[in-house]
Amino acid sequence: MSQFDLTPLNPTFGVEVHGLNLMDVSADHLFPEIRALFEEHSALLFRGQALTDAKHLELAQLFGPIEDRQADERKPGEAFKIPEVSNVLEDGTTSGEMDLKTLNLKTNFLWHSDSTFLPVPALINILVARIVTTEGGATELASTRAAWAEMPEALKDRIRGRGIWHRYSHSRKKISVELSKLPMFNKWPDQHWASVWPNPENGRDALYLASHAYKVDGYSEAESEDLLAELTAFCTQPRYVYSHVWQEGDVLLWDQRAAMHRGTHWPYEQPRKLSSICSSVTEADGLNAIRMPQGAA
Ligand code: OGA
Ligand code: MN
Repeated sequence: MSQFDLTPLNPTFGVEVHGLNLMDVSADHLFPEIRALFEEHSALLFRGQALTDAKHLELAQLFGPIEDRQADERKPGEAFKIPEVSNVLEDGTTSGEMDLKTLNLKTNFLWHSDSTFLPVPALINILVARIVTTEGGATELASTRAAWAEMPEALKDRIRGRGIWHRYSHSRKKISVELSKLPMFNKWPDQHWASVWPNPENGRDALYLASHAYKVDGYSEAESEDLLAELTAFCTQPRYVYSHVWQEGDVLLWDQRAAMHRGTHWPYEQPRKLSSICSSVTEADGLNAIRMPQGAA
């Protein structure tokens, strides 16, 4: 039982938490309850928040080490900047439909889990709505935990016990070959993770998939592509999906081990800006259980 007023986001996962001001959260006040809700429900929504950048960062730090994909690109002494999912340029205009910046946003429209291509993947993404659109631009979440629990055994048998290889440039290549060649998408070696992530707190399994996945052990790349598409289609049936229509002040966070997500189109002349901080998984989140031998696929 939770001390907060909760309403489900979807019949199979996710809750909106009412009456909690995220500015009041600290390690020993409210965070233990939030962490327990996160383990149980996979996705949490808080509306009407006035979360500052500093508090956003502090909240993410409570979940795990802050993910910093630009660490190697910053000059000495340059501070970490909160990543933004945004089509707003420095001069306030929006990026054109075919600009690489917009194309990169469009790769977010493929179902994925964040950072499966990093040597240490993300546990969570905490999104804060800064500028919202009047139409489109919803962020959708799909519970790969609920889907796995209901998946027919015959389909489970084709993926269970196998490792999956992930590569950042793979998801970019699906949208633009030019984009996939940029150095920022080719910084890390391919990663090899187990296909199922058991939650160490409650033992519930979830399929661990992403648009970055390109090869399943024991199958050719073409067979892998078909199987990954079939599994993604199963997990993203409406029954397992929550579609979030943004309002300013919304804070949406989810468990990357147990849910995939995607962005959706909006009229690109409209500005849209979300602040996004990912925290990395640690051994306590079950990382060791999904490690597979590195090397070549
Ligand atoms: C992300 C992401 C989708 C969106 O922040 O990781 O995929 O709706 N966002 O912008
Ligand atoms: Mn994402």
